[in-house]
Amino acid sequence: MSDRYRDARLNFNLRKTMTPQQIADMYNDFADEYEEKHLGLGLRSHLRIGEYMADTYPQDQRATLRVLDVGAGTGLVGEMLSELGFVQIDALDPAQKMLDIAKTKNIYQRLICAFLNKDRIDEIETDQYDCITAAGAFNEGLIPVCAFHEMIRIVKPGGRIVFTITDKYIDVTDGYRNDLLPFIQKMADEGVWDVTAVPLADGAIHLLDGPGTLYSFKVNVTEKIL
Ligand SMILES: C[S@@+](CC[C@H](N)C(=O)[O-])C[C@H]1O[C@@H](n2cnc3c(N)ncnc32)[C@H](O)[C@@H]1O
Repeated sequence: MSDRYRDARLNFNLRKTMTPQQIADMYNDFADEYEEKHLGLGLRSHLRIGEYMADTYPQDQRATLRVLDVGAGTGLVGEMLSELGFVQIDALDPAQKMLDIAKTKNIYQRLICAFLNKDRIDEIETDQYDCITAAGAFNEGLIPVCAFHEMIRIVKPGGRIVFTITDKYIDVTDGYRNDLLPFIQKMADEGVWDVTAVPLADGAIHLLDGPGTLYSFKVNVTEKIL
C-alpha cells in the first residue's frame, strides 16, 4: 500500500488532490483492515443510521421495503438493517474489495460497484428504492453534492435519503463548504424534499469527532433534472 493512501485514510486534507478513483483505490487497499481499524477507532455512523431506521419504519413493513445502501463499504449498515428485519437491501460502492467483504455476509441482494456522482447509474431504474442510506460516506473526496440528483431519481416518491455527516466536515470539505447546506435548503424551498435534521452529540458518529447531524430527506418528486 502506498504511504499516500495510508496517510489519506485519516488525514482528509490529503484527499483534496486525489481523484475519485484514487479514493476508491485507497479503500480497496485497506478493505481487509477496514472494520478492525475503523471500528477500533470508534466509527459509529452505521449505528446511528440503524437507530433512525428502527424508529422510522415499523417492524411489519421492513421486509417489503427496498433499501439502497450507498458507500456501503464492508456492509456495516447492511448488518444493522438485516438485524432489524429489512431483507431487500442492495449495496453500492466504487471499491470492489470493500464490496467483496460485504458479499461474504450474505445480506445484500445486489452489490453494485459504482460511484455515486452526477452520472446516471444505468443499472438502477428510476423510482426503485424506498430508502437510500449512507453512513460515513459524506466527507472529503466521497459523495459529492451533485449526486443528490441521482439519488432523487432512484428513490420512489415518498421515499427517503438518510445519511450522517460530522458538522465540522461541512466547513473543511471543498465540495460541501459553500454548497451542501444551500442545496439542501433549495430543494426544500422547491418542495423536492422535506428535511428532518437530527442533531448528534459529540462522538456519536465517530468517537474521535465532534457533533454531527443525521439528515433524512423525504423525497416528494419522481425525478428532477436541475
Ligand atoms: C468510511 S467508508 C463507510 C463504509 C460503511 N458505510 C460504513 O459505515 O462502514 C466510505 C465508503 O464510501 C465509498 N465511496 C467513496 N466514494 C464514493 C462515491 N462517490 N459514491 C459511493 N460511495 C463512495 C468508499 O469506497 C467507502 O467504501
